[in-house]
Amino acid sequence: MANMKTFSINGTKISFVDSGNGTPLLLVHSFPLDHSMWDGQIEALSARYRVIAPDLRGFGQSGVSEGVVTMDQFAGDLADLLVFLGIDKVVLCGLSMGGYIALEFWRKYANRLRALIFCDTRAKNDTPEAAANRLVVAEKVIREGSHTVADAMIPKLFSPITMQEQPHLAEKIKQVIDRTDLRGIAAAALGMAQRADFTAELARIRCPTLLIVGESDAISPVAEMQAISKAVPNAEFKTIPQAGHMAPLEQPQAVNAAIEDFLRRM
Ligand code: MLT
Repeated sequence: MANMKTFSINGTKISFVDSGNGTPLLLVHSFPLDHSMWDGQIEALSARYRVIAPDLRGFGQSGVSEGVVTMDQFAGDLADLLVFLGIDKVVLCGLSMGGYIALEFWRKYANRLRALIFCDTRAKNDTPEAAANRLVVAEKVIREGSHTVADAMIPKLFSPITMQEQPHLAEKIKQVIDRTDLRGIAAAALGMAQRADFTAELARIRCPTLLIVGESDAISPVAEMQAISKAVPNAEFKTIPQAGHMAPLEQPQAVNAAIEDFLRRM
């Protein structure tokens, strides 16, 4: 298990991994997980980069905020973390909800970005139906427990081949969700329902950008990620075979190779 450090934002503890030296690479996890979804990246990439992987507020070992936590607030927490660490610019890599947060970070703190890496994410906001469903999810998780989210999400997270050949990954994710604070899950679900549509803003992204998507991603499909890569000037696009929505967890070597290849040429 990675060695966690902590700092505090107005009394809320934020835990994070800070491992290795070199160009800072900030890894932002998806919903409703924690930094451990990046274990395969932390271990391999910290040999050449300074890998920072926080538990977002409400997740993992970080403190919890009640109510709604917006993507903007998560992005602000990341900016505070960089200030705490004395880091000026980072390569910011986010998966799914981590990608929504990366977009908000870009909107507010573009001058702090060396590059962006979007994994298995979307630029569009929720449809009214999807946003309404987040409210149902948030209420249900508080009332009935985290298994409601785990049961709904886990079947959609992995490629069929991962489910067959690496069933322990679904168990790993289930255990992470089981130990996540219910208020943290609800707050982030409500925050995602309020997030902005970035589709029209993608053309203004100026930093080097890489998009990575599992070939069988059922949540952020290849075609949607490809459309993002066409909208962002000079973006690169990489499809990961035999992977779904959790490409970095399912195929860590292929994802690490894509990230390293991109960073080497940056
Ligand atoms: C995630 O993996 O972070 C979620 O699928 C994001 C979402 O629910 O939109």
